[in-house]
Amino acid sequence: MLRHIRGYYRHVLKRLRSFYHFRHFDSFVHGPIQVGYRENIRVGANCSINRGVILQGHSGIDVGNNVVLSPNVMLLDAGLDFDELRSTGRRLHVGKPIRLGDGCWIGAAAVILPGVTLGRNVLVGAGSIVTRSFPDNSVIAGNPARILERGSRDD
Ligand SMILES: CC(C)(COP(=O)(O)OP(=O)(O)OC[C@H]1O[C@@H](n2cnc3c(N)ncnc32)[C@H](O)[C@@H]1OP(=O)(O)O)[C@@H](O)C(=O)NCCC(=O)NCCS
Repeated sequence: MLRHIRGYYRHVLKRLRSFYHFRHFDSFVHGPIQVGYRENIRVGANCSINRGVILQGHSGIDVGNNVVLSPNVMLLDAGLDFDELRSTGRRLHVGKPIRLGDGCWIGAAAVILPGVTLGRNVLVGAGSIVTRSFPDNSVIAGNPARILERGSRDD
């Protein structure tokens, strides 16, 4: 019984901590997520962040309004300096900011890599690895992600 109560409070605390990172309180976190450096992360209004999402936040993550991050999406804005690791063993992180425009939908388990900027209303297919930037209204998918469709589906 005590274990259940403790578990429940831990869950509530986790959700509250997650909300703390957002400027707008009309954005929702559905289940536990992982946030690296919260001071480098901005999430806009009316966003939906699903369980298992990882926001690294080393160099800067800027998420626009009305964005959906499906379960297990990773926004990775840094990696290790591999030369430094090989030569000295030091784990030095290097990165570039990630920007997601308004209205993007990032499908489940997609990975967005450092330096990527997605324009407005970009749809990223489930499981994609996004290695470069894409313009407004693209539908992209695959590893590496490529354009499936240009222009809005409402055009
Ligand atoms: C990207 C997506 C929206 C495309 O759906 P669609 O418009 O119906 O596209 P289709 O299924 O007709 O596929 C079109 C082509 O893209 C490919 N494709 C579609 N989704 C893909 C994906 N995630 N990764 C790689 N290729 C993909 C298909 O294989 C097909 O290729 P082909 O023309 O060579 O046969 C959809 O596949 C997807 O990934 N949705 C995300 C679902 C999700 O994450 N839900 C989480 C709950 S919120």
